[in-house]
Formats: sequence, C-alpha cells, structure tokens
Amino acid sequence: MNGRERAEVLLKIGEKFYPPREIVERAWVKDYDALYEKSLRDPESFWAEVAEELFWFEKWQKVLEWEFPHAKWFVGGKTNVTYNCLDRHVREGRRNKIAYIYLDEENRERKITYGELLELVCRIANGLRSLGVGKGDRVSIYMPSSVEAIAVMLACARLGAIHSVVFAGFSEGALRMRISDAKAKVVVTASYTLRRGRKIDLLPTVLKAVEGLDFVQHLIVWDRDGDLTESEGLVDLEELVRTSEPYCEPEVLDAEDPLFILYTSGTTGKPKGVLHTVGGYMVQTYYTSKVVFDLHEDDIFWCTADIGWVTGHSYIVYGILANGVTSLVTEGAPDYPDPGRWWSYIERYRVNVFYTAPTAIRMFMKYGEEWPSRYDLSSLRILGSVGEPINPEAWHWYHKHIGRERCVIVDTWWQTETGAHMVTTVPSYATKPGKAGKPFFGVIADVVDRDGKRVPPNTVGVLVIRNPWPSMLRTCWGEPERYEKYWRSIPGNVYNTDDLASYDEEGYIMILGRADDVINVAGHRIGTMEVESALVDHPAVAEAAVIGKPHEVKGESIKAFVILKEGYRASAELAEELRLHVRNELGPIAVPDEIEFVDRLPKTRSGKIMRRILRARELGLEIGDVSTLED
Ligand code: PRX
Repeated sequence: MNGRERAEVLLKIGEKFYPPREIVERAWVKDYDALYEKSLRDPESFWAEVAEELFWFEKWQKVLEWEFPHAKWFVGGKTNVTYNCLDRHVREGRRNKIAYIYLDEENRERKITYGELLELVCRIANGLRSLGVGKGDRVSIYMPSSVEAIAVMLACARLGAIHSVVFAGFSEGALRMRISDAKAKVVVTASYTLRRGRKIDLLPTVLKAVEGLDFVQHLIVWDRDGDLTESEGLVDLEELVRTSEPYCEPEVLDAEDPLFILYTSGTTGKPKGVLHTVGGYMVQTYYTSKVVFDLHEDDIFWCTADIGWVTGHSYIVYGILANGVTSLVTEGAPDYPDPGRWWSYIERYRVNVFYTAPTAIRMFMKYGEEWPSRYDLSSLRILGSVGEPINPEAWHWYHKHIGRERCVIVDTWWQTETGAHMVTTVPSYATKPGKAGKPFFGVIADVVDRDGKRVPPNTVGVLVIRNPWPSMLRTCWGEPERYEKYWRSIPGNVYNTDDLASYDEEGYIMILGRADDVINVAGHRIGTMEVESALVDHPAVAEAAVIGKPHEVKGESIKAFVILKEGYRASAELAEELRLHVRNELGPIAVPDEIEFVDRLPKTRSGKIMRRILRARELGLEIGDVSTLED
C-alpha cells in the first residue's frame, strides 16, 4: 500500500478509545480543548507560565521575538539547563532519589541518585574545563546509552559547551563527517558498546575518524574494562572524574545560547546540524514530558531510544530530568538475551510510563504475545509511540498485550528539528488508532497543498506549522540557508515538516510518512543521498539511486539501483561487497536490503534521478507524471 491508499483504509476506521477514569483523574491536563484554546489566545503568556515553573538566574524581558523566520524565546533570560535538571532537585529534597537505573544486556544494574549525578556532572565539567573546553566549544560524543554518556552531555551543558552526540551505531565515515562539520575540540567515546552479547569496539573507529583532524585536541575514553594502554595519548574519563573537583558552578547562560547540535538527514546533501538553544528547548521538553507522559513525583519512566537520537536527548535526558523523576536507561538489543528482556524490566522496576517505537512493537508482535504475557505489567499507565506512523494493527497489539486495555497510548509526532512533541494527544483525551492526534498547546498545525492552501478534511497534504514554538531549531550549523528553507519552501510563511498528513472532521491528524527523499528505517532517518554517495564512493560504481520500500517490521527498507563502471561485472559477491562498503561508511542501519544492478536510471532532462519512478515501478504503482523524464 502506498501512503494514499493507506490513508483511505484508515479513514474508514475512525474508531475512538476513551481513557480510563483513573488516568483522567490524575492527569495534569484534564481539558485539552479548553487549554488549547487558551494557549492560542495568547501563546506568549502560556509559555511564560510554563517557564516560570523552572529556575532562571534572571528572568526574560520578552517571551518571543519573531522576525520571520528567526525566533528568539525568553529574550534576555539567563539560566542553565543542568541547574533545572539537577541542582534544583537536590535542593528540593531529591538528593537521594534515583535519577537513573542503567541496565546492560546481562542485567547488570547501576543506580545513580540526583545527588551523585550532579557530582559526576560537575567533575566531568571541571575535567573538560581543565582540557580547555569552554562556552561555545563543540564536543562530539560517540558513546552508548549509559550514565556516563548522559553525564558528559550534561557536563557540556553545565559549561555552555555545545555537544554533538553521534549515534554509536554509525561508522567511521558518518562519524568523521559529523566531527569535522562541528569542528569538535574534544571527542568523548567509550572503549566499546554491547550488542547481542558482543563487545563492539568504538575506539578504533574514533581513532580512524579523527585522523588528520587537527582541531580535535583531546580524545577522552570511558575505558569500560580498564584495559587500554596509556601510551595512546588518550584521556581516561574515570581518571578525569577522580582528579577533578566535585563541584562546578553552572555557567550563567543566555536563553538563546546554543545547547547542542544533532545531525539529521535531509533530502539533499550531507546531514544537517540541527541547532537547539538553552531556554526554549528546556521549557518545551520539560512541559511535554510533564503533560504528555503525565509525570508525577513517584513515577518510573522508561524511554527505550538511544541517546544518539533526538528522542534520547529530549526524553531520556533533558525533559525527564527537568521533571525530577526516576527513569531507566538500557544498552543493547531489545530481544537479547530473549524477547522477554523489556517486559521483565517493566515488571521488576514497576515502570509506569513506557515510550518506544512502532518498529519495536512490530518486532515483538512477531515473537508473539506469549512473551509479554509471562510478566506482570500492571504498573503501566501510559504507553508512548514515536518515530514513524504506528499502523492500527500494531496500535491494537500494543494496547491489548502491553497495556492490557488499561493504558492510554500517546502517539507523539515530532522531529529532530522541533525538539519536542508537536502533535499528540494528552492522556485524558480520546485516541484514534493510527492517528497521532491534535496539535500540542501553543502550536498551530495544518495540512496544506504545495501552494500553501489548506486541503479539505481526509485529504492528503503536507503537514506545516504556522507559528514559532519554544523548542524549534534555530539554525543549521554552518548552513543558515538550509534553515531558511524550512520556512520558505511553502507559501504562507509556514514551517514545512516534509511529512505527508491528513486531518479528519474532528481535527485528528494522521501522519503518513515523509514527503521527501528521506527513508525511515526502523524510526531512523536516512537520506537517499547519503547512501547513494557511499555507494558511488566504491570503485566499481558509476551511479546509484536509492529508494525506500515498505517493510513489515522496519517500516521501510532500503533498495539500491546501481550502474557499474566499465570493466565490472554484476554478481552476488559484488552486491555483498557494496553492502559491506556502505556498512563501513555509514553503519548497519544504512545498508540496503536489496541491490539491483541496472544499465540506466530514469532521469529528468536536467539530470536528476527520478526516484519516484523507480519506487512506483518497484511497488507496482501508477507511475504518474513523466513529462520531465529525459527519455
Ligand atoms: O516522518 C516523521 C517521523 O519521523 C520524522 C522525524 O524523524 P527524526 O527527526 O529522526 O525524529 C524522530 C523522533 C522524533 C518525522 O518527520 N515521525 C516521528 N514521530 C512520528 C513520525 N511519524 C508518524 N508518527 C509519529 N508519531
């Protein structure tokens, strides 16, 4: 099914689920419609009220300064995110409260309290400072999801240094591009990460990735087994922690000072360095965590994402810590050592709010409901979904076999660029399987055609946002023109999400998938261009075109069409070699499932590859308008 056909099937469903009374009763937001209306009547006062729940060294003079397409939020306000995530809780009696429970694949557990985390962050911050890191410097972090990685992120934020976390599943080429683009002064890594009982070395990848990059002054390593030799000129993270002072004043930062860069794929060119700033990002991640996950003091929260993606940044680290709750952090595969791993944690730690991706749910559907049925999941109250559209089958399975029909599902739509939830329902509101729901407070979302005209209900268009929001990206690192494009590609001064969507008579928004050449593999954004460049980089390849194909578990899988250079012959071995090549350049998630060798690719007269035609042919769909086809 393509997006449009899928939409038609779904529109016929229109089924509604009402939240259980206990959930409504304890919810922070009981009347979405009224609060939404209020938030739009005066978005600035709305956000100011939220921001007042947090700590500021100095209050802002103006909530919003909007000079299209550039926004400043909480203008003149001074704060530090780490103060709100750590010091505030320590001062308010949560010093001995567990901040994180970390678990590896062998169920080795590490608990760290808010007080201990604050000290660890301070020590690392002092250590970084002793290595010359200060406000505005970039620090690349290539580490597995762990307390150590989170502490390094927060240590940067403490100093006003800008972190750039690179998913530890990326390979050398992808890592090198990100370190170079950010011109990182320091790179922090771990000796290895764990996956399916294996140690996957990270340090050798980093050593290759930084070769010849003379702006990288230090390499810090979390030496997990303490077996690295000192001769390599590396800084030992544990040693740095041991030898640094236990307290570090939080840097007084401007609300608009940069907090982090996170690279994400776009339609063209290399990945974009999405830049988020201190104040607005803090406020919106705090508030969405609070009201969408309905977090209360004693809740145990678990987001299964990796800290290498925006979901990990916003809903493992910043938004969650800002609420002062206890959460789980896990390293390794969801189904290793067996498909009961996740459910056993929910039982053992009495998890109340669980946040994961549809691809994981579909994988567990394949293992069968016997696995979750062995565990006591009665602590669960709210189930979240993120990263890709959740198909109604997966929604129902999640609701029934994990939520046991007592939980509310929140299907949260957002992007690296939006920083925090933008379309979702709050737990007290009725949900419709397959439809993300309503715009978040203060957000005006709409579905329009390419001319910017609103489409009628139940019609596919592009999802746009009409007004600025606190956690919006401020720019693309070093490429301000790419930032402008978000706001200038559709008439009407709207932010183009590049997602296809529709809305129904009741205003529920359904997301159908990307409108551009970005592929969503298991909730991870991969640019067709990046995979094509990696392929063309191989000596045998003359040209390559890459498309996404529907995949039962991953949502989409990658298929590549390759034209070989003179003198090379197509073979299964060569296809395997190309797959390995992409793996080495970009990482396992970007490897094409299929490679087809072809003699020609459909192109426009100006020489652009028409992936749309390849895709239509591959999926047996109508090819559509081919008037621009060269031949
Ligand atoms: O296509 C949408 C999809 O993921 C894209 C954003 O990817 P990324 O920046 O990596 O951030 C992922 C985590 C927020 C979107 O443009 N997407 C995200 N959440 C949903 C979704 N599609 C449908 N439903 C969602 N809940």
